[in-house]
Amino acid sequence: MKQCQTVEQLKQSPPVPAVAEKVDSSQKPCDYNGLFSATIEQLKAENKYRVFTPLSRIRGQFPAARNATDEQITVMCSNDYLGMGQHPAVLSAMHEALDSYGAGAGGTRNISGNTHAHLQLEAELADLHQKDAALVFSSCFVCNDATLATFPKLLGKDMVYFSDENNHASMIEGIRHSNVRKHVFRHNDVEHLESLLKSYPKSTPKIVAFESVYSMEGTIGPIGDICDISRKYGALTFLDEVHAVGLYGQRGAGVAERDGVMDKVDMITGTLGKGFGVFGGYLAGSASMIDCIRSRAPGFIFTTSLPPVVAAGAAASVRHLKTSQVERERHQANAAYMKQLLSSLGLPLMPSASHIVPVLVGNAQKCKAVCDKLMREHQMYVQPINYPTVPVGTERLRVTPSAVHTREQMDKFARALLTVWREMDMKLFQEVPDVHQLMAKSKQVAA
Ligand SMILES: Cc1ncc(COP(=O)(O)O)c(C=O)c1O
Repeated sequence: MKQCQTVEQLKQSPPVPAVAEKVDSSQKPCDYNGLFSATIEQLKAENKYRVFTPLSRIRGQFPAARNATDEQITVMCSNDYLGMGQHPAVLSAMHEALDSYGAGAGGTRNISGNTHAHLQLEAELADLHQKDAALVFSSCFVCNDATLATFPKLLGKDMVYFSDENNHASMIEGIRHSNVRKHVFRHNDVEHLESLLKSYPKSTPKIVAFESVYSMEGTIGPIGDICDISRKYGALTFLDEVHAVGLYGQRGAGVAERDGVMDKVDMITGTLGKGFGVFGGYLAGSASMIDCIRSRAPGFIFTTSLPPVVAAGAAASVRHLKTSQVERERHQANAAYMKQLLSSLGLPLMPSASHIVPVLVGNAQKCKAVCDKLMREHQMYVQPINYPTVPVGTERLRVTPSAVHTREQMDKFARALLTVWREMDMKLFQEVPDVHQLMAKSKQVAA
């Protein structure tokens, strides 16, 4: 074994040659700024350059906010679906926690950052999903990425992933980081999934990764069927309920709860930043699986834990939504109202089985222009959803009426959108093309 050098030996070691001696002075250094600028130009040329909209939320008045010019506007695209980010129960829990614990957690979960607030939140989440245990991460992006990348350490390098083609970037990244074999199955296509699963021996470790609510289309996964097929071929299921937790089910555990199939799902991930209105992500599942991820996932281990204030606010939100139905009922009623309203005006709604209301524009520049006009001329904020978030040709407005939007706000938005649509000479009462075909075509072109 190599021995460490003593301080005396280190002192006697020959000095490291000066780096300058090795530098060829005829060479120019890399033009870093030139490369960054070229990338930005390319992003702009390809309509992939993202422009973030500055916004100040106004405490207690969501969906009202202030824009860059300090005008009061109405937010129509937030993921604070139930308005829990402004809920008195959440705010008071956070004030109390701030006064009790102070600001940050002060460390990783392993080194001094394992507060009572974290443990209480994890107990709430395990109970919500009726699983043995839960583990809180910095976000659900980190949770999906870190967890999926870690499974080969637990199940071996021969394991195989099966991933829905519309899965979120966080799962795609996690599977990519795992460096194991993966198969992509057609969106929500259980038969296709089965044909892929059956090509492996039952004993090969497999994980099927999918979502409940797909947030850009509003489609909903056939959770029970996917779990049944997975079990038949010896696969575990990994379900992302990020756009459903708090929103669906009698206690807000998501679509799996609504559909009565919670016990069939092996692992559930969720966010505390959307329906629950705060911040953070989590994984729920069996005690042994959670115990392994806790000890083997670098994205969980080597990072400061959530501020206790955030954990306490999230726990208050989860607790509140376990018993209160008002927010869920209003949310569903508002989503249905908005869909009905926009389609009666002839705006091209994409079919959605959930609370997401996608309006197809089909062109990146037009999509941005519609949103700019809505903000400038009508004080309505919707973010254009363009490539690479969605395939080229399927650019859209993703409208998300929340539980706390009033009828008046929704009517005003619909009138504004209609006005902009007419002013831009865009067609009304047009048959909406089959978006799945459009997406498949677009993916072929991209490939
Ligand atoms: C399906 C899905 N999974 C995971 C995430 C990541 O969640 P978080 O915002 O908590 O990082 C998102 C988006 O934010 C998402 O849409």
